[in-house]
Amino acid sequence: MSLELSAPPQSEPACADDGVWLECIDCGEQFAPFEEIHYTCADCDGLLEVRYADPPTFEDFEGSGVWRYNAALPFEEGVTLPEGDTPLHEVPRLREEIGVDSLRIKHEGMNPTGAFKDRGMTVGVAVAKELGVGRLACASTGNTSAALAAYGARGDMETLVLLPSGKVAAGKIAQASLHGARILEVDGNFDSCLDIVQELAGLGEVYLLNSLNPFRLEGQKTIGFEILEEHYEDYGEYPDRIVLPVGNAGNTAALYKAFRELVASGALDEDQVPTLTGVQAEGAAPMVDAIQNDRDEVERWDEVETRATAIRIGNPVNAPKALPGIYNTGGTAVAVSDDEITDAQRQLAGAGIGVEPASAASLAGLRKLRASGEIGADESVVCLTTGHLLKDPDAAFEAGGDPEPVPNDTDAVLEHINAGEKGTLGEVARKVSAGAGSVGVPALVGGGIGLAYLAYRRLRSSNE
Ligand code: F0G
Repeated sequence: MSLELSAPPQSEPACADDGVWLECIDCGEQFAPFEEIHYTCADCDGLLEVRYADPPTFEDFEGSGVWRYNAALPFEEGVTLPEGDTPLHEVPRLREEIGVDSLRIKHEGMNPTGAFKDRGMTVGVAVAKELGVGRLACASTGNTSAALAAYGARGDMETLVLLPSGKVAAGKIAQASLHGARILEVDGNFDSCLDIVQELAGLGEVYLLNSLNPFRLEGQKTIGFEILEEHYEDYGEYPDRIVLPVGNAGNTAALYKAFRELVASGALDEDQVPTLTGVQAEGAAPMVDAIQNDRDEVERWDEVETRATAIRIGNPVNAPKALPGIYNTGGTAVAVSDDEITDAQRQLAGAGIGVEPASAASLAGLRKLRASGEIGADESVVCLTTGHLLKDPDAAFEAGGDPEPVPNDTDAVLEHINAGEKGTLGEVARKVSAGAGSVGVPALVGGGIGLAYLAYRRLRSSNE
């Protein structure tokens, strides 16, 4: 009902504050937005959405970044670093090779902490200040924790993050650590971390800033506004399709909400709304499972595994908001293998766009759906890449080439360069262990450095 693509604007209820209120997507119960803390419906535990008496039009938008869209946000300004205004890269070679009419990459890795989470946090931390809460907290596969730590620091608030032990990429823990979050490593997966944080929030111990918090999604909506505006400016039309990685399905829900609000105000026609297409890793694909079987609910996967640790999630909490987004825009969802993700990560890197594995899932998904014919050659497509390459240096090392050790001597360096193709330390090391005689002393030295380097990397990842 309330999640229809073309729901008319609503009249303001008595509980609204300046035209803003919270509403349950299941039972329609309405709540004042900033008096008490609500994450889910007090009556039926359904998900809440932020509602506005005046949905936005494109003419309302001015300025830059997330706060350009404050006509569609609960406040005029927030705790900012600033965020948003990310590039919409052209990738002509990839476009041609994949075979679509146009292809752009919306690189959310270019936000201040290197992921789209900043868009949600600039709003979420502002709401926390308005509510006057003490400690901020989240469960995270890494990026949310980095963003919460940075925005909490910016807002001068205490932050606590719960991470699945050994499953968070190095760059993300480094950020949370340096920005001063208290980091708790849980012997469980992301979903168990979220269960715990939700319980702590229920006890009033922390203010929860996962995407279950409806205000987070308000900030993330601005990805949709930016894509529409920029695409229209460049091509005179909106994209046919947006392909995005799915974990908790927060972005899927947020983009759909952005489109619904523009349709409600009359700024966008229903047939101009891009088709939302979600991509998950094969080892963590409960949304894909639901969509491919035409189900209205997602069943939690207890065992999840993928190299794309950011989307190693078995219980996408925003599914009740995201599934209507995919169904009502005529979209679909697809699962991709870890190797397909790594290939896509290399292809994006080859176009100068450095992303972490989860981000590359969108391109891998596009490629797969184009190959199967589900995405047509005549479509204009935007792939969302959600996090920066440096977030997960170990994955980048594994997908990329290794450094080549050379002696401290120009002639020797030149000889090495001219000796042939770029090799990998792994190859050198293997040659050395297979029989030192044929490769000579320099290779032995190189192999030794190579092995030491690989051991260092292994040590780094086992310490995470
Ligand atoms: N891509 C990246 C890089 C992410 O970090 C996440 C989620 C997603 C995609 C999935 O987005 O949840 O909106 O479907 N990361 C969360 C975290 C879970 O804790 O950083 P979604």
